[in-house]
Amino acid sequence: MERRKVAVLMGSKNDLPKIQGCVDTLAELGIPREVRVMSAHRTPAAVAQFASGAAEGGIGVIIAAAGGAAHLAGVVASHTLLPVIGIPVEGGALNGLDALLATVQMPAGIPVATVAIGGAGATNAALLAAEILALGDGDLRARLADFRERQRRKVEDADLEVRGNHA
Ligand code: RP5
Repeated sequence: MERRKVAVLMGSKNDLPKIQGCVDTLAELGIPREVRVMSAHRTPAAVAQFASGAAEGGIGVIIAAAGGAAHLAGVVASHTLLPVIGIPVEGGALNGLDALLATVQMPAGIPVATVAIGGAGATNAALLAAEILALGDGDLRARLADFRERQRRKVEDADLEVRGNHA
């Protein structure tokens, strides 16, 4: 079974605008994806079913985004041997700090690779998933290298512009 897809799960449809950068980055890298709303506490049976069957469904990495008492990534990880990346979603009374701690502080035995709160974390979750898949996919590795190169050029262009404006 070839596992080339990335699953992006979120606990609520309200999370989607906050993690859009994750979906967009996967698309930019040409990575096939499944984007789903499911909740560890509101639809626990659906989460268990999805995570248990993900590997057989051609998924190689699962990204799970949730806010508040965010246990989605940990619960997903408990049902699969696939690598799971957790995105703590900002919002609520603690603006994502609760989600960060809930996602990152997994007890030993079930790992969740946790990225930063917010947009930077969402983009990095996609890039990390791509790097994992690229271990067995030379074409994807080349697209990632190209992404880095474009990023490098953007910084160089910005440097030229700023230097020009302040000469
Ligand atoms: C979490 O609770 C979701 O991931 C979301 O970030 C948060 C609030 O959900 P809603 O009440 O906005 O649907 O499960």
